[in-house]
Amino acid sequence: TSISIQSTVENSFIKKLQSSGRSLVVFYGSQTGTGEEFAGRLAKEGVRYRMKGMVADPEECDMEELVNLKNIPNSLAVFCLATYGEGDPTDNAMEFYEWLQNGDADLTGLRYAVFGLGNKTYEHYNKVAIYVDKRLEELGATRLYELGCGDDDANIEDDFITWKDKFWPVVCEHFGIESTGEDISMRQYRLEEFDEAPDRVFTGEMARLQSLKNQRPPFDAKNPFLSKIKVNRELHKSGDRSCMHIEFDIEGSKMRYDAGDHLAVYPINDIELVDKVGKYCSKDLNTIFTLINTDEESSKKHPFPCPCSYRTALLHYLDITSNPRTHVLKELSEYCSDQTEKDKLKLMSTATPEGKALYQKWIIEDNRNIVHILEDMPSCQPALDHLCELLPRLQPRYYSISSSPRLYPNTVHITAVVVEYDTPTGRHNKGVATTWLKDKIPNSESDLPVVPIFIRKSQFRLPTKPQTPIIMVGPGTGFAPFRGFIQERNVCKGEGKPVGDTVLYFGCRKRNEDFIYEEELVQYEKDGLVTLHLAFSRDQAKKVYVTHLLEQQADEVWKIIGDNNGHIYICGDAKSMALDVRSILTKILQEKGQMTEEQATAYLKKMETQKRLSADVWS
Ligand code: FAD
Ligand code: 2AM
Repeated sequence: TSISIQSTVENSFIKKLQSSGRSLVVFYGSQTGTGEEFAGRLAKEGVRYRMKGMVADPEECDMEELVNLKNIPNSLAVFCLATYGEGDPTDNAMEFYEWLQNGDADLTGLRYAVFGLGNKTYEHYNKVAIYVDKRLEELGATRLYELGCGDDDANIEDDFITWKDKFWPVVCEHFGIESTGEDISMRQYRLEEFDEAPDRVFTGEMARLQSLKNQRPPFDAKNPFLSKIKVNRELHKSGDRSCMHIEFDIEGSKMRYDAGDHLAVYPINDIELVDKVGKYCSKDLNTIFTLINTDEESSKKHPFPCPCSYRTALLHYLDITSNPRTHVLKELSEYCSDQTEKDKLKLMSTATPEGKALYQKWIIEDNRNIVHILEDMPSCQPALDHLCELLPRLQPRYYSISSSPRLYPNTVHITAVVVEYDTPTGRHNKGVATTWLKDKIPNSESDLPVVPIFIRKSQFRLPTKPQTPIIMVGPGTGFAPFRGFIQERNVCKGEGKPVGDTVLYFGCRKRNEDFIYEEELVQYEKDGLVTLHLAFSRDQAKKVYVTHLLEQQADEVWKIIGDNNGHIYICGDAKSMALDVRSILTKILQEKGQMTEEQATAYLKKMETQKRLSADVWS
């Protein structure tokens, strides 16, 4: 029993608040770290308003304790919650979300506020935050400030600072607090550097030391599998863009996948950019260091695996290519010896109209990353350990698996476009993962490049019965998961099973340029397995998209999803494509199914809950 008592104490955020004299707790639902970062910023700012704050992961807390939070004087719970996929909470907020949905706790007296992180190009924009905000009130809690919704498709940083700048005065008003007005710059982590290398030094592992050398299943996000690349070939026939077909070896890994799952890749940053950061911070990148959380109550001891060298931190653990957020600029400003540069960075970090406009122009539109900022502000020479504390974590990149395990049980295929573009300041930016993968060309069987990967299960699934008809809409790399789907149905066909209509809408720029997997597709069509509808947007004066073809094929669409209970799948990165497809489907249902607009919308919603309508989209 001693173990269970200890775990209750550890999971008790109330006890932690009490023992450290805090009244503000900021929970986060975060997948890629942005929600967690926002939560951290709010908790830190609390000090300014005499509200010592703490960040908490709902997964590590006994959330039923929310009923008792009111017993702490001037207490407040803030929730920074991201919405993912089909309107789902993040993994770490799942249990809390279900508890709210299914439970009937009495939350009277609980004071709260919610900020959501979402993306407007998706259906179910900020659904999780909207629900939690409403549900907490239903359960009797008091909303101190209105729900904030951040749109990652536009400028979520702007949405966040706008929201919190109005949030704090309301909180102060409510509790009768006068702002100390102090702009305290507090370090969250304490630095230790080593003159002599310690025994245990991380070199890019995600959790366990030497985990990439001594590989032990099960493999997952914390313990990726070091996979050999067996094939890496170009899919584009001409043009200046590149699309890679890569095959990863998973033999012996005990990892399994299904068509529709995602492959995650841990890339490393460009060495040249890393060296530049070291140069601008005047730091020897071989130095081994560790950052230790000054908040002893926190379950997060280090921002990333420590100790490691600065080089390892910059190569493996930190995001040095995104546009830095405003709080980073504010901290950077303290390191400028030139007053003009200092003022400019300071201004950009404020929520004033001028500050926001300058941030939008100089950081977002001009697309500057940390390296560009240090390059363009030569007087700014930050302490590298402080920068390591401020920069977000480098994220794994996800790819829709483009093979079927029925055909390829020992390899996982992906289809990825190499990201490369020029910025308004005349710089040439390269995508971290795709640029890194581009050079990973297998030489001989004994000399294969290796990449840390793991597989993420998805909800994107073929119907259980192969005779169920399906429509797949996948322009560009959106075709990726459908290659797996088609392979799977081809295997079924080979086994003599009846296979239903398999209709593919594929689109690209030009037939002779980026019609990926053309030979395979044409063969499947000849074999009578698939029906192809092809949109080559730039082969004629007027653009033709998959959406245009879908509109023209209203009868076929209705036959499959209306008459024959079929499934429809949408996949791709084309920004508005998924939403366009939905509105076309709504129209087709109205016309061919004699439905009103409301009925058509409800029909699509129902298809979604039945998993007959699924989307796998990214932007
Ligand atoms: P990064 O270093 O992450 O750079 C990309 C960023 O650069 C963009 O977010 C954007 O901010 C910026 N950018 C890119 N182009 C421009 C431009 N022209 N102008 C200005 N800024 C620009 N990708 C695939 O290719 N195939 C897939 O099958 C696939 N499946 C995915 C499935 C899921 C579930 C998700 C979430 C994403 C998927 N992606 C897929 C996208 C993929 O994960 C990566 O985002 C993509 O490969 C870029 O990664 P990168 O590290 O090379 O680029
Ligand atoms: P474009 O680049 O010529 O505009 C794969 O990216 C294909 O999808 C390209 O042919 C691209 O056309 C097209 N595409 C771009 N936006 C789209 C949208 N909203 N709906 C459908 N297809 C789109």
